[in-house]
Amino acid sequence: MWNFIQKPVTVLLAATVVTGSPQNLRRGAIHDCLSAAEIPQEIPGTDNWTQAIKPYNIRLPFTPVALAVPETVQHVQDAVTCGRELGITISARSGGHSYASHSLGGEDGHLVIDLKLFHDIKLDPETGIAQVGPGARLGNTALALWEQGKKAISHGTCPGVGVGGHVLHGGYGFSSHTRGLALDNLVAADVVLADGSFVTASANENCDLFWALRGAGASFGIVTKFHFQTFDAPEQIIIYSHDLKWQTKDAAITGFKALQDYTNIQPTEMNTRLLIASGYFVLSGVYYGTQEGYEAAIAPLLEKVGTPTNSSVQNLAWIDSLRANAQEPLEMPLDYDYHSNFFAKSLMTRWVTDEAVEKFVDYWYDIANSSSILWFAIIDLHGGVNSAITKVPHNATSYAHRSATLKYEFNSLVFPGETYPENGIPFLNDFVGTITETMKNETIGMYVNYADPTLTAEQAHKVYWLDHYERLAEIKEALDPGKLFENPQAILSPET
Ligand SMILES: Cc1cc2nc3c(=O)[nH]c(=O)nc-3n(C[C@H](O)[C@H](O)[C@H](O)COP(=O)(O)OP(=O)(O)OC[C@H]3O[C@@H](n4cnc5c(N)ncnc54)[C@H](O)[C@@H]3O)c2cc1C
Ligand SMILES: *[C@@H]1O[C@H](CO)[C@@H](O)[C@H](O)[C@H]1NC(C)=O
Ligand SMILES: *[C@@H]1O[C@H](CO)[C@@H](O)[C@H](O)[C@H]1NC(C)=O
Ligand SMILES: *[C@@H]1O[C@H](CO)[C@@H](O)[C@H](O)[C@H]1NC(C)=O
Ligand SMILES: *[C@@H]1O[C@H](CO)[C@@H](O)[C@H](O)[C@H]1NC(C)=O
Ligand SMILES: *[C@@H]1O[C@H](CO)[C@@H](O)[C@H](O)[C@H]1NC(C)=O
Repeated sequence: MWNFIQKPVTVLLAATVVTGSPQNLRRGAIHDCLSAAEIPQEIPGTDNWTQAIKPYNIRLPFTPVALAVPETVQHVQDAVTCGRELGITISARSGGHSYASHSLGGEDGHLVIDLKLFHDIKLDPETGIAQVGPGARLGNTALALWEQGKKAISHGTCPGVGVGGHVLHGGYGFSSHTRGLALDNLVAADVVLADGSFVTASANENCDLFWALRGAGASFGIVTKFHFQTFDAPEQIIIYSHDLKWQTKDAAITGFKALQDYTNIQPTEMNTRLLIASGYFVLSGVYYGTQEGYEAAIAPLLEKVGTPTNSSVQNLAWIDSLRANAQEPLEMPLDYDYHSNFFAKSLMTRWVTDEAVEKFVDYWYDIANSSSILWFAIIDLHGGVNSAITKVPHNATSYAHRSATLKYEFNSLVFPGETYPENGIPFLNDFVGTITETMKNETIGMYVNYADPTLTAEQAHKVYWLDHYERLAEIKEALDPGKLFENPQAILSPET
C-alpha cells in the first residue's frame, strides 16, 4: 500500500488576516501555507511572477493563484498538502510546453508546482538505468546520457520540451519506430500523491499507478524523478530528407496511400515522417543501419511517392543526428524563455479509407493551400507491422494508440507580435474533420501531448484514452478522489 510520509502542514496553517476579495483570501492563505513550509514561491505582482507564468503558447495565458518552485521532494509533498487542505487544484509544470497551457492549469486559479529545479540527470553505467528529473529538457537529457556513457532513450525532436509532460503522455520521435515511445523506456517513477505521500511506481510496486502514469500522468500525482532503461546510442545512423512535388491531387492521394501502405513493410530500423504546408512536401527520417540498408529500405516508398526534387542523406554520429534534426543547439538554459502563438490538433488513425484520403486531399489542395492562415501538418509513420510502439501490448500502458499506423499534428501559428486569427481554429477543425467526419464509425484517437483545448472534457477523454479511460477513472477515484490534480481535460474532469 501507499507509504505515508506526511508532514502535518495543517499546524502551519496559522490564521492570517488578509482582507479583500475571495481570490485575495485564497491567495493569502496559499501564500502563507507555502511560506510556513519554507517552499520557494513567486510572488504575484512581481516581474518574476509575470515572467514565470508566461506560457509557452502565449495564445493561452492563465493566472494561477500561486506558483511554488520546490527544491526538495519534501517541498513538493508540503505544497500538495497546502493545496489539498485549502481546496485549491494543483498542476505540475516541468518544461511548460503544453499546447493547452495545462501546466498553468488550463484555467485560472490553480496552484502551479514548477519542477524546473528538478533537472538532474544521472546514468548508472552498470545497469544502464538513468535517473532523470522531470524539469530536465530533452536536449540536455540526450547530451547528458551521451556524455555519461554513450547511452540514449527514445524521445521527441525539440530540445526545449520538458521530460515531465512528454514522458507521462507518450513521447514520440525519430527513434520511436525502432525503440518505442519515451514512456516505453520508463522502468519506474517517484511520485508525490494527492494525500501527500511519496511512492515509487514500477512494474512490481504500485503497478496501477505505473500503468496510469504512462499515458495520463498529469492526473495522478507529481513525478519528482524518472528511472529509464537506456539503450546504447548507435555509433552511426542515417538521417535523410527528400523534397517531393505532388503537383496534382491525384499525386497527393497516391502519395498518402503509399505512406500508409508502407507501414505494412517499413523495417523496424526505419523512422519516417512527411511534413506538408502550402506547396511544401518533405519526407524525412532516421534509419538505424548502413547506407545500403537504408537505400534498400526506402526504395519501395520512393518508387510510389515520385522522384524527389532534392535529397539529402547523411551518415552521422547519434548526437549529431539529434542536433541536425533539432535545427538548434541541444543545450538548453535553465532560464529557457521561448514562446509561440498557435493552435494545434492531432489525429491517430488506424487505417484511413480511400474516401477519407480523397476528402483530406480536396481540403488540402482546394482550401488549405491557398489559405492566408500559416499552417503545417506532420504525418508520422507511428505504428504498423514492425513498429516498436505497436509491438507493446495495447493494455500494457494507458497510452491508447498502439494500433494507430499514422500520427498527425496539424498546426496553425502566427509570427511574434501578430494576433492569432479568429478563423484559425475552424480552419484546422475542418481540416481534421475531413478524416474524422468521413470515418465516424472507426476508432480514431488524438494525442494528449498535442492537447486540443477546444475539445470538451467528454470528447477529450474519449479520443485521448479510448478504451483505457474507464480503468483510468477507477484508478483516479482510488488515488485522487478529491480531483486535486486537475485540468479541463484531466481524468474525471467534469463536463462543462
Ligand atoms: C516545440 C514543441 C515540440 C514538440 N515536439 C514533440 C515531439 O517531437 N514529440 C512528441 O511526442 N511531443 C512533442 N511535443 C509535445 C510535448 O511532448 C508536450 O507538450 C509535453 O507534454 C511537454 O512536456 P513539458 O514537461 O514541457 O510540459 P508541461 O506543460 O510542463 O506539462 C504538460 C502536462 O504534463 C503535466 N506534468 C508536467 N510535469 C509533470 C510531473 N512532473 N508530474 C505530473 N504531471 C506533470 C502538466 O501538468 C501538464 O498537464 C512538442 C511540443 C512543443 C511545444
Ligand atoms: C528574480 O529572478 C532573478 C533571476 O532568476 C533572480 O536573480 C532574482 O533574485 C529574483 N528576484 C526576486 C525578488 O525573487
Ligand atoms: C499551393 O501553393 C503554392 C504556394 O504557396 C503554389 O506554389 C502551388 O502551386 C499551390 N498548389 C496548388 C495545387 O494549388
Ligand atoms: C537541396 O538540399 C540541400 C540540403 O538540404 C540544400 O542545402 C540545398 O539548398 C537544396 N537545393 C535545392 C535546389 O533546393
Ligand atoms: C484490454 O483490456 C480490456 C479490459 O480492461 C479488454 O476488454 C480488452 O480486450 C483488452 N485488449 C487487449 C488488446 O488486450
Ligand atoms: C465503417 O464504414 C465503412 C463504410 O463506410 C466500412 O467499410 C468499414 O468496414 C466500417 N468500419 C467499421 C469498424 O465498422
